[in-house]
Amino acid sequence: MRRAMVAGNWKMHGTRASVCELTGALAVQDLPANVDVAVFPPSLFIGQVVEALAGKSIAIGGQNCATQVEQGALTGEIASSQLVDAGCELVLVGHSERRLILGESDQVVAQKFAAAQLAGLVPILCVGETLEQREAGETLQVIARQLAVVIRVSGVAAIAKAVVAYEPVWAIGTGLTATPEQAQEVHQAIRRQLAAEDAEVAQATRILYGGSVKAANAADLFGMPDIDGGLIGGASLNANEFGAICRAAGS
Ligand code: 13P
Repeated sequence: MRRAMVAGNWKMHGTRASVCELTGALAVQDLPANVDVAVFPPSLFIGQVVEALAGKSIAIGGQNCATQVEQGALTGEIASSQLVDAGCELVLVGHSERRLILGESDQVVAQKFAAAQLAGLVPILCVGETLEQREAGETLQVIARQLAVVIRVSGVAAIAKAVVAYEPVWAIGTGLTATPEQAQEVHQAIRRQLAAEDAEVAQATRILYGGSVKAANAADLFGMPDIDGGLIGGASLNANEFGAICRAAGS
């Protein structure tokens, strides 16, 4: 049985004051014991969030890491080992905003995934198709390619020690959620791709859905057999809404 997970990606949002308010409100949420809960603040605030949530069962992750594990001369980047040192347990890799706006290739994403695991972080590998790709009927091919590159670089067993997040680009921040059936179709295809290489890895790997998840639609999405939780953007900036999504994942 896979443990549910709900992860809040704060993206490039927050000030010291708003982060203080958000962590204060998160700290008093009634979170279900059977769900892994994590938040991903901007790197600037990781230390602040680690301190504010000390002793709470909320893990902290980075939104990105460098392709190299160790610190070095790489202006503006953050090494996976530095995220560990700061108190992170997880890191997002391959978010569509980084793939599409910042030009990260499948190969770079795969290197970041490997660097994260080498440092001891659990990577959340984000995959997803654009609206254009969906309309051209290429959804499953695009996802399969994004996943295959990581499997080629790190091996399929590495996927079981990570988390996969399916985030259709057209559903991110648009208020357009994939229907539970649309999401399930892709999640099932991801699990089948893994099963073709290793049945145990396929059964063990958690696959989260992301894209306009709210408290109001979370339970229907999380009720699908291959959806093991959610990666939440906008709604994770509201502690009560995020708490309600976590509770939906636990019931
Ligand atoms: P929204 O929940 O704001 O659509 O964002 C989803 C996302 O990109 C999480 O990584």
